[in-house]
Amino acid sequence: MRKTLVVGNWKMNGSKAQTEALLSELLALGPWSSDVAVCPPLPYLAQVQALLQGSGVMWGGQDVSAHNGQGAYTGEVSATMLKDFGATYAIVGHSERRTYHAENDQLVAAKAKAALAQGIVPIVCVGETRAEREAGHTDAVVQRQLGAAIRSLGARIGEVVVAYEPVWAIGTGLTATPEQAQAVHARLRQQLLAATPAAAQMRILYGGSVKPDNAAQLFAQPDIDGGLIGGAALKASDFDAICRA
Ligand code: PGA
Repeated sequence: MRKTLVVGNWKMNGSKAQTEALLSELLALGPWSSDVAVCPPLPYLAQVQALLQGSGVMWGGQDVSAHNGQGAYTGEVSATMLKDFGATYAIVGHSERRTYHAENDQLVAAKAKAALAQGIVPIVCVGETRAEREAGHTDAVVQRQLGAAIRSLGARIGEVVVAYEPVWAIGTGLTATPEQAQAVHARLRQQLLAATPAAAQMRILYGGSVKPDNAAQLFAQPDIDGGLIGGAALKASDFDAICRA
């Protein structure tokens, strides 16, 4: 039995005051029977750690460097540093990183590997654009993206979380139907199972305009094990409702 995981991806949003308000409101609404985590912008990581320590809610980075430890990599933050702040997760390969920062499958796989090496669980994002879906290339795209991570991690792929996020559904209000999402999730799990039997226990999250009113139907699908939540993670009552879905 896989435990549902709901991760809030705050993206480039918030302030010290908003972080404090959002988390205190959220903690007052918990606890939840699902696993819950938030990924704030990095300047707020220490504040999030202080507010969430001991609460049962986990936290992580929205990205991580492919380079480990310390070094001359201006602007980068290593998994070692995330670990120093008690982080559990690091999102890697989010479509906004792939699009605006030209991250390719190989770099994303290297980031996942660097995270795992430091005991940070990578949340490996895959997803097709609207044009790719309309051309019938959804499976080929997501399998290529996931395949790069599988080749880089080998059997350790069983230790990651996968997030299927159709690019056309992110921040657009368009959601994949539960059936559309389930079909992709089932094929991703088949691909993972070919690499490790542990895939039966792996969590594959859905992301892309998840809201309180569609979360329950999505999470009820057999291969959807929770969600990666953008916009709705910025409102405590919405995020709480999704965590309960
Ligand atoms: P959204 O973002 O929920 O705002 O669509 C999801 C994501 O990008 O992780």
